[in-house]
Amino acid sequence: MAHNHGVNSKEIRKSFLDFFAQKGHRILPSSSLLPTAPNLLFTNAGMNPFVPYFLGERTPKDLRVADTQKCIRAGGKHNDLEEVGFDTYHHTFFEMLGNWSFGDYFKKEAIAWAWELLTEVWKFPPERLYATVYQSTEREPATLDQESCEIWTGIFVQAGLDPNTHVRYGHKKDNFWMMGDTGPCGPCSEIHMDLTPDGKTDGRLVNQGDPRCMEIWNLVFMQYHALPDGSFESLRQHYVDTGMGLERVAGIFATTQNFTDFSKIPSNYDSDLFTPIFQKIRQLAEKGVSNVHAYFSNELSVQETEVAYRILADHIRAAVFAVADGILPGNEGRNYVLRRIVRRAILFGQKLHLPTGFFADLSTVVCQNMEDDFPELKQNAALIAKVIRKEEETFQTTLERGLRLFQQWVESSARCLSGEQAFLLYDTYGFPFDLTQLMAKERGVLVDCAGFQKEMERQKQRSKAAMKKSIIQVITPKGMPTEFIGYQQLKSSSKVIEVLESEGQWYLVTEQSPFYGEKGGQVGDRGLIRVEKFEIPITRAFWQNQTLLHQVEVAVIPEIQKCLPSWKGKEVTLQVDANFRKRVSCHHTATHLLQWALRKVLGNHVHQTGSKVEDTSFRFDFSHFEKLSPEQIQSVEQLCNEVIAQNVPVSIQEVPFEERPQDCLAFFGDRYGDRVRVVSIGDVSKELCGGTHAHTTGELQHFHILKESSVGAGIRRIKAAVCEEK
Ligand code: ALA
Repeated sequence: MAHNHGVNSKEIRKSFLDFFAQKGHRILPSSSLLPTAPNLLFTNAGMNPFVPYFLGERTPKDLRVADTQKCIRAGGKHNDLEEVGFDTYHHTFFEMLGNWSFGDYFKKEAIAWAWELLTEVWKFPPERLYATVYQSTEREPATLDQESCEIWTGIFVQAGLDPNTHVRYGHKKDNFWMMGDTGPCGPCSEIHMDLTPDGKTDGRLVNQGDPRCMEIWNLVFMQYHALPDGSFESLRQHYVDTGMGLERVAGIFATTQNFTDFSKIPSNYDSDLFTPIFQKIRQLAEKGVSNVHAYFSNELSVQETEVAYRILADHIRAAVFAVADGILPGNEGRNYVLRRIVRRAILFGQKLHLPTGFFADLSTVVCQNMEDDFPELKQNAALIAKVIRKEEETFQTTLERGLRLFQQWVESSARCLSGEQAFLLYDTYGFPFDLTQLMAKERGVLVDCAGFQKEMERQKQRSKAAMKKSIIQVITPKGMPTEFIGYQQLKSSSKVIEVLESEGQWYLVTEQSPFYGEKGGQVGDRGLIRVEKFEIPITRAFWQNQTLLHQVEVAVIPEIQKCLPSWKGKEVTLQVDANFRKRVSCHHTATHLLQWALRKVLGNHVHQTGSKVEDTSFRFDFSHFEKLSPEQIQSVEQLCNEVIAQNVPVSIQEVPFEERPQDCLAFFGDRYGDRVRVVSIGDVSKELCGGTHAHTTGELQHFHILKESSVGAGIRRIKAAVCEEK
């Protein structure tokens, strides 16, 4: 890299990837911020998309990979939200540059290359670098990471530096990396940089939370799998997972003017990733607005203003990238976290007296700045601004009402806000609890935290009760996997291997079955089972782990219950209701058509968030921020009906996961194995799907939307049907 003044973020990103490409790594684009792992709110580390490789569930195509991964750490195990803005180096959204070895190279190469890139290519002053190594204490996995220790010692000795000073030790908290409470993990070795004016702290500031000594790169050596009971199992192979904070490295280059000036405290916000956003905020702040809320009328100190700038500049990046990946502000889970981020920013924007709509204006700056490296920003720029503007408007209205209420309460009485009041502000007026606390604090008013938590708990119970559905719990003995043969045939003979009873219901398990078990939103098949002289209806088929349970309708022949247990070991005939299957299959194909049409009419932010496919209709949930207009509904119907009229073939192909077409849609909640099914409707739609489908679109006859509604902000639901109603 040219070492002139102003090495910028683009150059750093490129230089990192080029370096590892030269070392035989395949460069991959960033995965989505929508994680594939069900226990994550957002993609929070570069390694997330590769978890199936670490666990041996999938085989990687390349053993060496490098990329920059979009990450959000604002919920769950790695949550930096509260710190963001108050310091200069934590973010909700950031890019993690990483290189991976999937059972190929290990510690020696990973450490040597990290050192080479930093000191030889980027010319980091070696004497300012420190490496930390894992050392366990009682009840922590393994012992000292002797190997890393020796490699680093060799490197520092060769650089003429004292390893006793430059190699530091850390316990599980700092030097053992876990993605969550469970999953692949291992000891790690971090590289820290001394950024004090003299650079002579001898490593005393490492891991002390001081901005003048910062972790820049984490090299994780995946060796274990953390299990839910707290124990660790060794992985079959060893892996390397590294993560470097692009914003930190860019900040260091910028603040130190390429290592020529260490007089200032380094800040990520000095880099070109943030300066254009700061400029825009300044410009908007100069215009100013007069209709400032009484509450926010206090002038901010210089320090408070800086915090507000940082919060806005950080949060707008999170909002832009999240929306680009189809995550919209809403009331639950990740959507709610995003809403909190956006609303936190809007409130700080108000403190700076920025006009409503300012946050959407900032989104344009981020898109322009980063669209070359992230084409999704270019494609979605208009949508992103629209979503953010809408959230600003909605919040503005709610906020004004909430603020008035808050003022009344504070003026009329209390030195203490009750839990119920804080909850009302939260639930009805969109005030995150931390904001209510902040506002109260500035007024010298206390808030009843315990009371608020109690209200939250009550609400949780209420929604749990509302959601209660019949979940059948049948204990199936382990190791009874059923072979599903129903893609090809609807009738077969098989042996009964288990007969189970639970709460008055009876279930049969067979070696093989043509019955589709409820899965991926599609209902299970119905049909018949023939045993000797009996012919008994199967009313439901569903999976419990690897075992398919056929629920038997015993009520039709009461005496059957007595002989059911004796069926174990018998040959039976299983017959799927072909008409039922056909109708369900047509509706499943219709969900694919609908998703395609919605993306065409509304935009590529539309992603499936859930579905229920039945014989008489189906429902499809998807990310979108507003009600569909009658014209949009009509266009969607028309598009679907055109494809139906063309009688396009639906083809299904089974391929290794790694070889799936790149333009294939996948429902993020699903887990995919080594082999996946690609369902293509002519050349209009391509999705990964395990369901059953029509053979041609003509079988669907006619597509009709029955209802369009909201299921929480940011998610819409369409109920539709094909064929004729029964
Ligand atoms: N997975 C490691 C981290 O996120 C590299 O820090």
